[in-house]
Amino acid sequence: MAIRLNCRYLDRFVSEEDLKAIAPEVDRARGFLYENRDKALGNKYHGWLTLPRDYDKEEFSRIKAAAAKIRKDSKALVVIGIGGSYLGARAAIEFVRSKNYNLLAKDEPRVYFVGNSISPTEIGEVLSLCRDVDFSVNVISKSGTTTEPSIAFRLFKKLLEEKYGKKDAAGRIYVTTDKERGTLKALADAQGYQTFVVPDGVGGRYSVLTAVGLLPIAAAGVDIDALMAGAAASMEKYAAHALEDNDCYRYAAIRNILYRKGKKIEMLVSYEPDHTLMNEWFKQLFGESEGKDGKGLFPASVIYSTDLHSMGQYVQQGERHLIETVVTFDEPKSDIVIEADADNADGLNFLAGKTLSYVNRKAFEGTILAHTDGNVPNIVIEVEKMDAYNLGELFYFFEKACAVSGYILGVNPFDQPGVESYKKNMFALLGKPGYEELGEELRARLG
Ligand code: PA5
Repeated sequence: MAIRLNCRYLDRFVSEEDLKAIAPEVDRARGFLYENRDKALGNKYHGWLTLPRDYDKEEFSRIKAAAAKIRKDSKALVVIGIGGSYLGARAAIEFVRSKNYNLLAKDEPRVYFVGNSISPTEIGEVLSLCRDVDFSVNVISKSGTTTEPSIAFRLFKKLLEEKYGKKDAAGRIYVTTDKERGTLKALADAQGYQTFVVPDGVGGRYSVLTAVGLLPIAAAGVDIDALMAGAAASMEKYAAHALEDNDCYRYAAIRNILYRKGKKIEMLVSYEPDHTLMNEWFKQLFGESEGKDGKGLFPASVIYSTDLHSMGQYVQQGERHLIETVVTFDEPKSDIVIEADADNADGLNFLAGKTLSYVNRKAFEGTILAHTDGNVPNIVIEVEKMDAYNLGELFYFFEKACAVSGYILGVNPFDQPGVESYKKNMFALLGKPGYEELGEELRARLG
């Protein structure tokens, strides 16, 4: 069993009666997901549910071939995308390889993520890092119209064409987008770029196990067969209908029980810095899926023990509106033994012969007991190790838990209408045709 849900620290916060009471709502949520029972809450984006089994095998082979080509002919891969179109890939590379992957990559392409901001500093830096090396671009946008990646793509396409000429540049551009709609698809068809598809029934933040995530992940040398195998195992494991037999539903139920008891913030916690981007992926998944209609736990994240020295005080004694969901790993990726020191000037000889992973484990144990005493409910998700297989399992676990949790909450977990507001204002302020009136109104407000 790669992933286990450990609820032993929840005794004083969630009772068996609470779980029994919410069970019919979990069953209703499951019905929404599998039987499309509720149109009002959205039933269009359920394609990710069976993806680990039903993914397009022909495209999967093309992804592997493209990744092999990139690994052979490029010193850098520029991945252009925002939100669900980059977080999963970046999380996977850091989780399985390292957050220092680019520094450690010797004979492998470095992977740069741009188009997830409009910062001239960030984009300018990556442009100059690519100027003198062979590089390829993977531009990813389901809608094919998102402003941030569109701007970045224009800049990197120009650099590629200056370096290689239009024709050879086209051979270094990989486009992941909708199968027929959007500006990016039209551009790819016109220029003859190799394209990969974001399937219809899969929304951005649920798309990591499609070409959206798989191409950059494979280009960074991560085993995508193992990733999909882990996700497939997860799909099978969390297919059980009953709450008591399904840890994924239990996690979704517990979050909602705690939310109803006044908890407003869920912090995803890890003791591994390589989990940092996984925290970001989780935050987008749950934040965009649940934060609507004036509802939803606010997803936050910390890396311990690092953040025990910044956020630890608040968690222990601040307002009691927090939940911690801790992801632990049975095995570290590597380990270091602390040796005895003849002088013992630092007083650390009591740790001689111990490994760092042992000390990290004790930090976790001490912290979880302290935070539980401080009235912070702690849920623990135990994972075997930080490899591709376990990550596939974890991705699917969170996706399914999020969908069920959102339906229990009474929202549509697959839309994000609120994201449009800033876009409209930004277009108006930039003078995009069609937004003139709003532009005037906003400029008056800004003074
Ligand atoms: O989950 C979502 O749908 C969003 O976060 C999108 O992934 C994000 O806005 C990027 O959209 P697109 O892939 O259309 O450029």
